[in-house]
Formats: sequence, structure tokens, C-alpha cells
Amino acid sequence: MYHTGLEAPQGVWWKPIHKSEKIWVTIAFAWCMVLFAMMPLWHLRGGQNPSGIRHRVDPNAYRARVQEFIAQYQVDSDRGIPVVAPPPGSDVYLQAQMWSWLPVLKLQEGAEYVLHLSSVDLNHGFSLFPLNVNFEVVPGYDYGLRVKPTQSGEFLILCNEFCGVGHHLMVGKVIVTPASAPAEGGAR
Ligand code: CUA
Repeated sequence: MYHTGLEAPQGVWWKPIHKSEKIWVTIAFAWCMVLFAMMPLWHLRGGQNPSGIRHRVDPNAYRARVQEFIAQYQVDSDRGIPVVAPPPGSDVYLQAQMWSWLPVLKLQEGAEYVLHLSSVDLNHGFSLFPLNVNFEVVPGYDYGLRVKPTQSGEFLILCNEFCGVGHHLMVGKVIVTPASAPAEGGAR
């Protein structure tokens, strides 16, 4: 006989639960509580779930701000994408758009920056490779993060939120120069 879901199911679920089931439900619940407690703990102790600076932004205004940022600090060009080297302590702007990240950022190891992330079209995902750093990039919101690169080298920004046919091509770059490197144009 079929059960449509409108009739009460046949079974024994209203009978008292078995002891072993009770134990497993208790263990699962306790583990949920442990993970729940880990969220604020990671925030305070592990540097995870950082609190960002969030505010609404008009996508066109954000696009204009990124252009201004590029015009101010561009030092080079990488396959048509401007390479921008902002001074330590400054505000850094990264724009997500189908299907690129603008600009290429050149940051100094050990220096602090405020990294602004926003999209000018739809949702994208910021993921820094090979480091395990992931953020959602949402249009209409400027998400500012205090960052301090601790490792020099070249890092790729991959989009981890499906955003259309060019999603897999959406790769950006962050270049971190070693703290020991002489400043550009400076004496040895
Ligand atoms: Cu942008 Cu996927």
C-alpha cells in the first residue's frame, strides 16, 4: 500500500527511544555545542572569522574608487591587468567582476593594510591560493579586512562561487615582496 504523506506513517517512532539512540543523540548534541563554542574561540584566539568593516556601497562608486586607487599607485602591468603597489598602512581596493579580479596587488611582507573587497556585478568568492583564506564578495557591500601578509611570494586569487561561463577563468594575483627587499628606488 502507498503512503501519501498525508496519512500518519506506520511505525514505532512514538514508542520510547532505545538507550543506544539516546546516547548517540547526546554525543551528537555535545559535539554540536563544542563546535558552536569553537566559533567565538577561533575568532578570539586563532585569527579565524575576522571581524571586517562592512558598509553599503554603490557598485559604480566602488568601481570609481578602484580606478582612483589604480591611477594613484600603479607600478606595472601584468597581461593587461594593472599592478598596484600601495604604501604600507593604506587602504587597498580589489574589485570582483565577471570574470576577473582588478587590480594585481603588490604588498609588502609584514606591513598592514585594509583590504576592501566588493563586486560590481554578482556574487563571487575570494579564495587565496595556496593559503586557506575564503571570503564571499557581494555587490553593494564593501567588506574591509585588516590584513598583514606574513609570507612573501605570489598568491593566486581564485573565484570559488559559480558566476557564469568564465568562472574557472577568474584568477587574480597578489604579490607579496619580502620585508628584507630594498625599497623601490631606495639606496642599498
Ligand atoms: Cu567569479 Cu566565479
